[in-house]
Amino acid sequence: MAQEHVTSLASAGWLDQAMFGYYPYIALSVLAIGSVIRFDREPYTWRSGSSQLLRRKQLVLGSVLFHLGVLVIFAGHFVGLLTPIQLFDAVGISHGAKQVLAIVAGGIAGVFAIAGALILLHRRVFDPRIRANSSFGDTAILALLTVQLALGLSTIPLSAQHLDGSEMVKFMAWAQSIFTFKPGAANHIAEVHWIFKAHLILGLTILLVFPFTRLVHMLSAPVWYLNRRGWQLVRTRRNMATSKKRASTTAGGV
Ligand code: HEM
Repeated sequence: MAQEHVTSLASAGWLDQAMFGYYPYIALSVLAIGSVIRFDREPYTWRSGSSQLLRRKQLVLGSVLFHLGVLVIFAGHFVGLLTPIQLFDAVGISHGAKQVLAIVAGGIAGVFAIAGALILLHRRVFDPRIRANSSFGDTAILALLTVQLALGLSTIPLSAQHLDGSEMVKFMAWAQSIFTFKPGAANHIAEVHWIFKAHLILGLTILLVFPFTRLVHMLSAPVWYLNRRGWQLVRTRRNMATSKKRASTTAGGV
């Protein structure tokens, strides 16, 4: 049987209306237009800006934990917020089951990601060579993501008080109203806890600044790295030792 998913609509005040009715469109427009302009005008700055050459220590553990966690969270947010509510109802996934999945999978991924982010942030702030090579944006975006992860994890105890999924349906209705240009999107979430609101505002701000940061590599990494063409000259130490030996033998023989 189709579940009830009509949320009680409060009337959003002007601040909620500005932050959750208009700001999403500003953030998404800057994200889309800014990314296209950056790719067109500054293609050589479109990179992850790896610091692996400066210090490998901590990078692998921090980077693997962070990327694994964040990728699961992004996929979860995307599917969780934007899949039409009726589709979940049609395939028989209850709102409660979806809420528990978001808490458990999102929670585990969130802990992985925040542990990785803290390692990466520590490395970036306390290693003098990396600090000297980091722009303000490099450190700021990592700090913003860490705060966002902390806010996201802080929503879990709140979501746990609504295991019927009623709170989560409000966020789905809001996100889907934004993407389908339905008026009154902000009304769906006018009455949620301030921690949720802070998480949404910071999430939208991360989308807004996205084109001006190293995060742009997210858009190209899956395409360029997995489908990498061309060639790369690699000399291992063993090859160098062999070629040195060969060169000295040849020189001696002349
Ligand atoms: C505009 C962007 C974003 C929106 C609209 C958004 C929305 C949400 C919502 C509604 C929840 C609560 C889910 C529930 O339990 O019902 C949540 C949880 C969470 N968010 Fe976000 N979020 C955004 C960006 C981010 C980003 C960029 C990160 C991490 C870097 C993140 C990390 C988390 C984590 C760790 C949780 C808790 C686990 C979970 O429920 O998945 N969020 N987010």
